Amino acid sequence: MKHLPAFIDLKDRSVLVVGGQAMACRRTAMAQRAGARVTVVAPQLSPDFGNLRTPFVHQARTFEAADLAGVVLVFVACEEDPDYESRVAKRAGGQDVLVNVADRADISTFIMPSIVDRSPIVVAISSGGEAPILARMLRARLESLVPAALGKLATFAGTYRDRVKEVIPDVQRRRRFWERMAGGAVAESIYSEQPDTAKSLMADMLEAAKSDREAAPTGEVYLVGSGPGDPDLLTFRALRLMQQADVVLHDRLVPEEILELVRRDADRIYVGKKQGDHSMKQEEISRTLVNLAKQGKRVLRLKGGDPFVFGRGGEEIEMLAAEGVAFQVVPGISAANGCAAYAGIPLTHRDHAQACVFVTGHAKEGELELNWQALVQPKQTVVVYMGLISLSQVMASFLAHGADPKTLVAVVDKGTRPGQRVVAGEIATIAQIVQAAELTGPAIVIIGSVVGLREKLEWYANTDRPVS
Ligand SMILES: C[S@@+](CC[C@H](N)C(=O)[O-])C[C@H]1O[C@@H](n2cnc3c(N)ncnc32)[C@H](O)[C@@H]1O
Repeated sequence: MKHLPAFIDLKDRSVLVVGGQAMACRRTAMAQRAGARVTVVAPQLSPDFGNLRTPFVHQARTFEAADLAGVVLVFVACEEDPDYESRVAKRAGGQDVLVNVADRADISTFIMPSIVDRSPIVVAISSGGEAPILARMLRARLESLVPAALGKLATFAGTYRDRVKEVIPDVQRRRRFWERMAGGAVAESIYSEQPDTAKSLMADMLEAAKSDREAAPTGEVYLVGSGPGDPDLLTFRALRLMQQADVVLHDRLVPEEILELVRRDADRIYVGKKQGDHSMKQEEISRTLVNLAKQGKRVLRLKGGDPFVFGRGGEEIEMLAAEGVAFQVVPGISAANGCAAYAGIPLTHRDHAQACVFVTGHAKEGELELNWQALVQPKQTVVVYMGLISLSQVMASFLAHGADPKTLVAVVDKGTRPGQRVVAGEIATIAQIVQAAELTGPAIVIIGSVVGLREKLEWYANTDRPVS
């Protein structure tokens, strides 16, 4: 190991920053985050320093040896004058003051790691100055893996430290207790901002520990939106919950590439719904969620798009709430947002649409119960979910309610997925064009002049366009 990893307590201690440009400002901010009192020595300061929220002392001149008096460490960042940097570093080194010169590990006595800050948890990564880019890449990976609220969990755990020690004196048992706490429902409640639930679960765990029992695992349900299909559109939280679930109930719209990201040994239950073919009735799905959670399982209910946009997610959690089962809802990118973005069609645009309406084209007993008057409005985009089968009916109703037959329409089939196809036309013609294109769905219909922007803004491969 080339350097000793260590975390230095800088609270109320003096730190010197030599330099007045952006990097010196970043060092100042970092030292201030650790509670240091910072003096900046530089003839002039860049405007970046104006954004610092914590006060610092500015000496508007060049470095003098006396600046080192009482200082714990020095940051030097004057890349415009490497000789000056070397002189300051030498002087600091001569007085045994720790010195870091930005991007010059060779003349530094300490180097700055890349950090993942979930205070009080902080991960520091160093390549010993050899390959900072690799350290930064690793950091980026960790940023996506470590829950943003890990720090909150650490603080929460800290408030229970003494109590847990008192109730469980044995070190081994205590370690197992903390492992269960950090990998289970208590941690999830903290991550999802439900501190009261976390406290009550912690009380149950401690009560069980007193009588030498292990609290029965607490089941919970994660209602997670998996987005329109591209696995890269999953949220960090969705992925984390997918990787810790014991069982997953998934829809027809969730593709295999996404299911493969669920914990390998999780049980899979297919509850897909296709028109006329309901593998499991809604009531049965909700009941299954409740039963599995009551058995202590972490149940992932994975839905295409967003669970609260034409996803019946609300109905599923109503039963959970009534039965007192803990749950959390993770939003997903809805098909409307995903398809519009991947088709190059902005849903709103200052020159075209100031409103956007999502409606369902699913006909109940052949009837579409929509407020057509409200849909046929200027400067508005209408997105029709489940509108492929009823497309000609929807278009006819638009026309019957006064829509301009030349209004642009796009149908996005398998949006955000490798086989995405975008077929465009006008209200009067689109149904025929779509029929000829033999789209298979899932597909979404976008109506409005924003569709015309696609000519300029299309970027994602569209299999309906010839590849040149
Ligand atoms: C039951 S709704 C579910 C909507 C989902 N909860 C959401 O937020 O996107 C199913 C409809 O969503 C649309 N849809 C879902 N994924 C799609 C995709 N990848 N491309 C186009 N449309 C999609 C289709 O209109 C499909 O019939």
